[in-house]
Amino acid sequence: MEFDRTIIITGGAGFIGSHVVRLFVNKYPEYKIINLDKLTYAGNLANLKDVEGKPNYQFVKADICYYETVKEIISTNNVTGIIHLAAESHVDRSIVDPFTFARTNVMGTLSLLQAAREFWEPQGWAGCRFYHISTDEVYGALELTKPEGDPGAKECGGGPFGDDFFTESTKYQPHSPYSAAKASSDHFVRAYHDTYGMPTLVTNCSNNYGPFQFPEKLIPLFINNIRHRRPLPVYGKGENVRDWLYVVDHARAIDLIFHEGKIGETYNIGGFNEWKNIDLIKVLIKTTDRLLGRPEGSDDDLITFVTDRKGHDMRYAIDSTKLKEELGWEPSLQFEEGIEKTVKWYLENQDWLDNVTSGDYMKYYEQMYK
Ligand code: NAD
Ligand code: DAU
Repeated sequence: MEFDRTIIITGGAGFIGSHVVRLFVNKYPEYKIINLDKLTYAGNLANLKDVEGKPNYQFVKADICYYETVKEIISTNNVTGIIHLAAESHVDRSIVDPFTFARTNVMGTLSLLQAAREFWEPQGWAGCRFYHISTDEVYGALELTKPEGDPGAKECGGGPFGDDFFTESTKYQPHSPYSAAKASSDHFVRAYHDTYGMPTLVTNCSNNYGPFQFPEKLIPLFINNIRHRRPLPVYGKGENVRDWLYVVDHARAIDLIFHEGKIGETYNIGGFNEWKNIDLIKVLIKTTDRLLGRPEGSDDDLITFVTDRKGHDMRYAIDSTKLKEELGWEPSLQFEEGIEKTVKWYLENQDWLDNVTSGDYMKYYEQMYK
């Protein structure tokens, strides 16, 4: 079958990557989409069951750190676009094992850049794009200047917990090994643009939530624990603030920026949706209780305050005005609607959660790809 172009999406078996793969495979039958993924503990092909038989989809099990392998995949498939999501993504793991984060996030990104450069540069970069997906955590942390929260602040152009936001020109100040490794990879991508003229794009997004997120992250972990009436380990006093975006809206932004973003630019992605952890957790408990037919809030007693995360960033808040003004992107879902859909999805997909938490899916893939 002839395709107009071939694109690699790295990390396509992970949480956000699987939504990006699904969107591209369905929306662009004229593109061949290669999902290049190592299938670490976070990669799960069950996330993509609905697209696995499509003629324009191919899965390739590979490690982005193996430069020769990646180069071979790019050249034999005449790849002209790379959307790079593969990474180690969990802050708590990075505190315990920083080396793995440096290997994948820094060296893996460098290996991908160099492999693409060696194939694309001799062709004058014609029609090529390297799009690197990054995080708001590279900007460091904002202060909690309004600890009680001010719901009216938005009307005055501020955030409910502080008036400042991360913009595209905020200086990098990563604190965790995860964000330090992501920051380093962002710098390498920009260096390839500035030094070799590689056509690159970088986006920095806020916290994502939605279906298929590995249940070590706050939202799926807590929904699962509420269902099973297990303790909910809230770090510190639960006062940290995160800015939440529904994952499908992130995937929509990636599609738009890949096709219409200005080469060499950075765009922030976020929904102006800040929540203090403890308030978000109470919404999760209420929603989960209601959907399970329990009295709303009856599981509040599961909340257990535990020792804080080391170096825990206090507040993230993304200003995505540039993306709205230049490319017209806005989130499509209100938070209440997104949370309702998300809780429902995890409750209706308990098999997916059980597989992931039992590690059974890893045994299956080890057999399949050994
Ligand atoms: P995830 O942990 O769910 O998925 C990561 C995927 O990368 C997995 O499928 C894994 O198998 C794959 N992978 C890991 N190491 C690899 C390697 N060496 N070679 C090939 N594949 C490898 O991550 P996610 O939450 O979907 O995040 C995806 C990207 O988006 C990451 O780059 C992350 O930094 C960024 N991001 C995430 C969020 C968020 O809230 N989750 C927000 C902003 C940015
Ligand atoms: O901001 C974008 C980032 O969001 C991404 O780059 C990361 O890949 C992604 O993991 C996420 O990082 P966070 O550390 O913000 O997400 P996490 O779900 O781990 O935690 C959200 C908040 O909840 C954070 O303040 C820590 C707190 N927390 C988390 C867990 C897992 C708890 O209080 N208890 C927990 O058990």
